[in-house]
Amino acid sequence: ISKFATKYNTNFKIIMIIYSRNRRLRTNASIRSLVQETVLTVNDFVMPVFVMEGENKEEPIPSMPGIYRRSVDLTVKECKELFSLGVKAVNLYMKVSGNLKDNTGKEAWNKNGLMQNTIKAIKDAVPEMVVMPDVALDPYSIYGHDGIITNGKVDNDATNEALVKMSVSHAEAGADIVAPSDMMDGRVAAIRTGLEESGFTDVGILSYAAKYASSFYGPFRSALDSAPKENVDIPKDKKTYQMDFHNAREAMDEVMKDVAEGADIIMIKPGLPYLDIVSQVRAQIDLPIAVYNVSGEYAMLKAAAQNGWLDNDKAIIESLTCIKRAGADMIFTYAAKEAAMLLNN
Ligand code: PBG
Repeated sequence: ISKFATKYNTNFKIIMIIYSRNRRLRTNASIRSLVQETVLTVNDFVMPVFVMEGENKEEPIPSMPGIYRRSVDLTVKECKELFSLGVKAVNLYMKVSGNLKDNTGKEAWNKNGLMQNTIKAIKDAVPEMVVMPDVALDPYSIYGHDGIITNGKVDNDATNEALVKMSVSHAEAGADIVAPSDMMDGRVAAIRTGLEESGFTDVGILSYAAKYASSFYGPFRSALDSAPKENVDIPKDKKTYQMDFHNAREAMDEVMKDVAEGADIIMIKPGLPYLDIVSQVRAQIDLPIAVYNVSGEYAMLKAAAQNGWLDNDKAIIESLTCIKRAGADMIFTYAAKEAAMLLNN
């Protein structure tokens, strides 16, 4: 290189550029660890958990290898295991039987409902586990929508009233943080007011602020039997409330409104195909950011790994680290337990 510089009589600045070798800091693992910018730890993970009725029951979810729906007792057992691995937060989803579903979603705030009983059971057994129940009506809706249907449309304001009741009932059961994933307008303010008025001043709100209408939710919907139902009068997708994946500026508007309404943590979802949104939001806000590495992202990785096309462990650690690099403070991921075991080793 120096010969090159003399030969071409290059000036000093150019020589320095020529002598600059980025590879020096990649020479060995110790040097690489000194200059590593992003550190992934078990503290970053939130494990989504699917719960069903019954006792000592466990059902695998075919499109999500390694993930199960479990009865409350086995869910508690799983939570103990997760906590001992260092995973200190769970996000709860219920699979409720068809006869409990209607258009109001009222089972969602049943004091003795599956969700409320699960929250209590986990907090009893593992008090330090951060319990984050999902707030949205889809698992309780006969239409598979996140809100109440009025005249063939998802009714924003009627839904907000239901979400407040749901959130307060989660708080009564012992939830630490409620996680509204419904994308109704104004629901963060409504839930915040509802919680304050009921005395739950310390219950946090993790708001799905920028949640896109995405094809990557497929495996999740089959796990809960919560996909929008085929029905002539009702929209078959969630595009009237979830965001259009063509848009990025709109995400910032959504985030700023949820911050103003009183959210404590801001969620961006899905994860991997949406990291541009994560980094843009990171540049603009100081609240903690959560990113959801969703069911379809997990399914893609597992399918490739099962075929021997990807190294499962390396791909998991890389993708979660990249989500953190983009600006996430916490990651909701079905790989939380596996990643915790990998990081602990
Ligand atoms: C529903 C909800 C969905 C997910 C979390 N909460 C699905 C949807 O909006 O249809 C998806 C999570 C995943 O795919 O992992 N409110």
